[in-house]
Amino acid sequence: MIADLRINGPRLWQAIMKMAEIDALPEGGCGRLALSQGDKQARDLFKSWCEEAGCSVSFDALGNMFARREGVNNDRLPVAIGSHLDTQPHGGKFDGVYGVLAGLEVVRTLNDNAVQTDAPLEIVNWTNEEGARFAPAMLCSGVYAGLFDLDFAHSRKDDDGVRFDSALRDIGYEGKEACGAHPLGVFLEAHIEQGPILDSAGEPIGVVTGGQGQRWYNITIVGRDAHSGSTPMASRSDALVAAAMLVLEVQHIAKSTDNAAVATVGALTVLPNSRNTIPGLVSFTVDMRHQDDNLLSVMDQRLRQACEDIDDAKIDLEMIWHNPPVIFDKQAISAIRGATRELGYAHREMVSGAGHDACQIARKVPTAMVFVPCKDGLSHNQAESAKPSDLEAGCNVLLHAALRLSN
Ligand code: GLV
Ligand code: MN
Ligand code: MN
Repeated sequence: MIADLRINGPRLWQAIMKMAEIDALPEGGCGRLALSQGDKQARDLFKSWCEEAGCSVSFDALGNMFARREGVNNDRLPVAIGSHLDTQPHGGKFDGVYGVLAGLEVVRTLNDNAVQTDAPLEIVNWTNEEGARFAPAMLCSGVYAGLFDLDFAHSRKDDDGVRFDSALRDIGYEGKEACGAHPLGVFLEAHIEQGPILDSAGEPIGVVTGGQGQRWYNITIVGRDAHSGSTPMASRSDALVAAAMLVLEVQHIAKSTDNAAVATVGALTVLPNSRNTIPGLVSFTVDMRHQDDNLLSVMDQRLRQACEDIDDAKIDLEMIWHNPPVIFDKQAISAIRGATRELGYAHREMVSGAGHDACQIARKVPTAMVFVPCKDGLSHNQAESAKPSDLEAGCNVLLHAALRLSN
């Protein structure tokens, strides 16, 4: 009986642990930046596993990978399941990897039980979800969905000035198919929640109904390099002091908006970064998010005003990305919800705080997500951790949601 099918939890866990050996970090996490040699190894391993499972693997012009398991009716558009294999510099083992390998586990389970689906299934690995090496995040799912163009993606540069296109060619994952041309009928993504809600409620499943909006900025402050011993306090133009005031203001903007607002300064560069020179140049990033795009606009205005209010340094604010909130597809959500209920898992409906490839793909293809808890809601941290039983539950939901949508 199809209703009795269950994925193999220990096999899913072993695959995640094997993948975590690539670019493993000393404190238990992974530092596998997009388009690095580690990313290439992760892709090669994923590709070999998919081929062993009988899938044919292709990749598009931006290295987005599609592993296809044929259905009975291959004129139908595929039901796709996936996420990303790149990580943060100090990332965990589960962010992204879980969603890709859960897709593989669904295929392996169908193979074990000789189940054919009517529509084909595809497992997807989206390139550069994290945006840690090449900003912005969700870059290649973004191009797929028509939000960015190919040249924009190609011309992104990392901190060493390496362009995205040359890094992609270097690892041999530049395909011929145009990014966005690969047809998908529906997209499902499983992910750890990366926040505390499910973990503190003790619920194994989140039925995700959409994702919050985000705005990313680069701010550059030009002061004046000068001697730290002989320059009187009154005649300084200290770019780092101006930056410090703005960092506090970014935090204040979020805290004084409402409980749902978040804002972060995550990266900061100080020049010349010398103990006895007053910093003449500081650049930093700002990431602001809210479920309500109007409130996100208010936060944006307040940040711009705060930059104008500082008058002893020159401040340049560039918004590099505005990604409005997204609402997932009713039918795809109902497949996730229906599968969760049928399996009897405790669950709640929720909006994602983190960005996901699904949030981009949803703008082009019917999409939904399933969340599982992670310990203390901690993610983008080497200590990120999830229970095997929860990962298994989320993968069972994915299996039965995919069966609903493909049959
Ligand atoms: C991706 O991990 C994001 O939410 O920034
Ligand atoms: Mn992720
Ligand atoms: Mn992430």
